[in-house]
Parts: sequence; structure tokens; C-alpha cells
Amino acid sequence: VLMLTAAGCGGPKSQDAAAYTPEKPLIIKFSHVTTPDSPKGKASQKFAELMAEKTGGKVKVEVYPSSQLYGDKDELEALQAGNVHIIAPSATKLVGFNPAFQIVDMPFLFKNHESVLKFWDGELGKKLMTSLEDKNLLGLAMWENGFKVFTASKPLEKPEDFHGLKFRTQAGKVLEAQFKALGSGAATIPFGETYTALQQGTVDGQENTWNNIDTQKYEEVQKHLLVSNHGRIDYIVLTNKKWYSELPEEFRKAFDESMAEATAYERELAVELDKQSENNLRSSGKMKVVELSDAEREAFVKLMEPVYSEFAETVGKEIIDGARQL
Ligand code: LMR
Repeated sequence: VLMLTAAGCGGPKSQDAAAYTPEKPLIIKFSHVTTPDSPKGKASQKFAELMAEKTGGKVKVEVYPSSQLYGDKDELEALQAGNVHIIAPSATKLVGFNPAFQIVDMPFLFKNHESVLKFWDGELGKKLMTSLEDKNLLGLAMWENGFKVFTASKPLEKPEDFHGLKFRTQAGKVLEAQFKALGSGAATIPFGETYTALQQGTVDGQENTWNNIDTQKYEEVQKHLLVSNHGRIDYIVLTNKKWYSELPEEFRKAFDESMAEATAYERELAVELDKQSENNLRSSGKMKVVELSDAEREAFVKLMEPVYSEFAETVGKEIIDGARQL
């Protein structure tokens, strides 16, 4: 009983790895909101396999996909409280902690996929990643998903088509301003509730990656897709800093190695699955997919320019300029 009081309450305390066995493993909970077959779903599972391998089964990572344990609203609080140990929210969802994470939402900012990787693996990305430590959140890695496109229940071909429509957003004022610039309304809705919101017409449309649209089956409730590639969905894999620092050293080493390997796997897979989902959706015949000519794209870029003057300060001129140059 005494031992239980000393070690049993309020999350894990420093302990010897030898205290755990495959029969009584240390449990690590990894919660996320996408499906098991999304890049995040597969990579979190990969992380679990690697941890089991590297610790001889003394650590068991339990993965909870599809918002089944926590959704957008509560996963951050659950992580800070130590009720879950790893989450991988899209950067945007960290806006409440540091508004600079909205860099991923600045319209048409990143030139291409390479610039995105350069950003997150460079100085600016690293600075963001470590900016939450005073909130007891430790950034472990960037896992990517891809560029966003728009979908809606009504035709989406030119800027005027956005007028008067209402779009679901993930979080934050930048996305709200983006839709305002397009003449649309916006509502923040948790990912796990978005399909129903689209189905019931609470909102007319949403923006997401090919893979999220495909794995969430939005093509069942959205007939139109505009290939805009205007923003990003990139994940920040986060752990509870205090909990992590108290892991037995042997497990922490396995944890770091597994995370590095899972990250390499995720990044490769994300590119592959993005393409695969694009092919699925294009060939399904369920959505009308519209491409933008250079001139049409330019019209969208111009329309969204006010977002830059409005948010240069909040997001940070240094990181906006830095990202643009890559
Ligand atoms: C969304 O809410 O649309 C995405 O952030 C979901 C995800 O985790 O990919």
C-alpha cells in the first residue's frame, strides 16, 4: 500500500525499467483523431510496434484512433493532465498555446512539399516545436499529411462560388479570416463531428487533405472539390514533458529511437497515401474535381492577401518571410 501511494498517483514516477515485464508492461496511451489507415494512424501503430520490439514487450503503446478516446477539444488538456501520453494534433490546433503555429494556414505560403520539410526541419520549425515547454508540452516530431483542397456541397470553381457558403474550420482566427476574405462564413467543428456537420448541412463545405477527405468518406456528403493546395495539414507529435522526463532512461532511449523511425516512415507514407487518396477520389466519380489555371489561382492568392496584413504580427513576420523564402 505504501508503495502504491508513493508511485501510483498522478502519473508515472521515476522507476527502474526492471519493474516492468511483458505481463505487466508500462502503458503508454497515444490518442489521435484520424482513422487507423491514415498516415497518422499507421505511423502511431508503427511506433507501438517499435517500442514493443525495443523494450522486449516491457512497454505497451496503446493507440486510440478516430477520436475514440479524446477529440480535438479535449486531447490537449488530457495530455497536460497526463491522462494520455502522446497526441499528434495538426499544428493549427495549437493556436491557443502559440498563435505562430498558424503558419500552416497562411494562404499559398509554402511553395511545395520540399519547402514544408525544410521549414519544419530548420531553425524556425524547431523554434516552434520547442515553444510549448513552459506549458508542459514537449514537441517530438513533425508528421505530415499534405496540402489542403476545398470541398463543398455546391459547385466550387471560382472565387464567387464561395460567397455565402459556410465552411468548417479546425481552429483559429487565420482560417476564419481566410474564409472571410472569400466571402464565406466559418465555424470551428471538431474533426470527429465534421462528417455529420457536412451531412446535416450545418456547414456547406470544408478544407482538408486528399487523404483526410478519402478516409473520412467526405465524398459521400460533398459533391465538389477544388484543387487549391492553399494550406497545410502538418502534425506536431507531442508528449507530456514531465511524464517523459520521468521515464526510465532505458525506455526513453527506446522512445526516442522509435519516434525517429516512425517519423521517417510517416513522412514517406504520407506522400504515398496522399497520392493514393487523390487517385481514389478522382476515379470514384463521386465528386466533381476542378483544377485552377495559373490565372485563376492568382485570383485566389490576391483575394486572400488581407490575411497577411491582418496576421503578420500574430503569426510573426520573421517566420512568414522565412517560410516564403524556402
Ligand atoms: C482536421 O481537423 O481536419 C485535421 O486536423 C484532422 C487531422 O488530424 O488530420
